[in-house]
Amino acid sequence: MKSIHLSLLAAAMAATLTTAQAAPKIKVGLMLPYSGTYAALGNAIENGFRLYIAEHGDKLSGREIEYIKVDDESDPSKATDNVNKLIKRDNVDVLVGTVHSGVAMAMAKVAKDTGTLLIVPNAGADVVTGAMCAPNIFRSSFTNWQPGYAMGEVVAKKGYKKVVTITWKYAAGDESVNGFKEAFEKSGGKVVKELSLPFPNVEFQALLTEIAATKPDAVYTFFAGGGAVKFVKDYAAAGLKKSIPLFGAGFLTDGTLEAQGADAAGLLTTLHYADNLGLARDNAFRLSYAKSYKLQPDVYAVQGYDAAQMLGIGLAAAKGDLSKRAVFIAAIEKAKIDSPRGAFTLSKSHNPVQDIYLREVTGKENKLVGVASKALADPGRGCHM
Ligand code: BEZ
Repeated sequence: MKSIHLSLLAAAMAATLTTAQAAPKIKVGLMLPYSGTYAALGNAIENGFRLYIAEHGDKLSGREIEYIKVDDESDPSKATDNVNKLIKRDNVDVLVGTVHSGVAMAMAKVAKDTGTLLIVPNAGADVVTGAMCAPNIFRSSFTNWQPGYAMGEVVAKKGYKKVVTITWKYAAGDESVNGFKEAFEKSGGKVVKELSLPFPNVEFQALLTEIAATKPDAVYTFFAGGGAVKFVKDYAAAGLKKSIPLFGAGFLTDGTLEAQGADAAGLLTTLHYADNLGLARDNAFRLSYAKSYKLQPDVYAVQGYDAAQMLGIGLAAAKGDLSKRAVFIAAIEKAKIDSPRGAFTLSKSHNPVQDIYLREVTGKENKLVGVASKALADPGRGCHM
């Protein structure tokens, strides 16, 4: 009897010891759209993030990851409440989000005010790594300016002079058009009309009629997700694809080609990813992603994967201890991130300095045409760190 008691006691002590020794899990708050026009983008980001963690034995620096998920619905009016819940109720160690620029700006404000670590795995709002920049805010994706600026140079080089732009009226659309316009007009082109409709509306008909009446040399556009699918189909159905060349930031055709079918054939877009880069790192990533999810990855999956890599880099330097904040930050700041898109570094304002590729839709792929802009850095306007 006594020996049974003793062995039970020993087992209980061993269990307590194991519990005491195991480092607590890292709580990751995934704030992403899981419904609405950007739902597929949110899912791809989560897939990419989880894939990197899975490839590292489901741990980073010896610590398991616990996910707390919020569907942000790409709704800026709910964003502050959502992010405050993750920080105050769920006590997350790090925030990962989001897709929509308006929601990301609200997240960045709270992250800046509270000092919570934030890694933005898509939303391109220029201001997040501009005037709102902070030591605890990083981006694994792009600024809206970057693909727009690269495309402005491409369209000017093709000799087009008169362009109409069309997009959703919010930060992403506005800033994408601004980037395009800056480069295009610097090279002598003119944006003659800027058309827009509220996010996430997809009633394009009246605006397409206006494009037809204006007869520009070309059209530049920013749409993404479900809206991009509908826009490309409507542009073709209106008969415009044959008469007025359409150019876009690469979100127009990324993760959308299955649904766009032949209507997307031949479209030229600029982005920091393409489907056939031929890099060993990308080939391995694509194979691993396809095995895990029975899907081909897109740019959003890459950005999610790289958000996890960046977290991993910071944690490795801090030996898994997130209280070593300065060490964590310095490690990411000086890292060369081994991304499937090609290795990149971060600018002083924590945004990727990266090649922007020109791609052409061929079959179900955004095929690489060439590098439109080498190591393009966002100007980081207004960032003082
Ligand atoms: C944005 O809101 O920043 C955004 C959304 C989808 C694709 C790219 C950018």
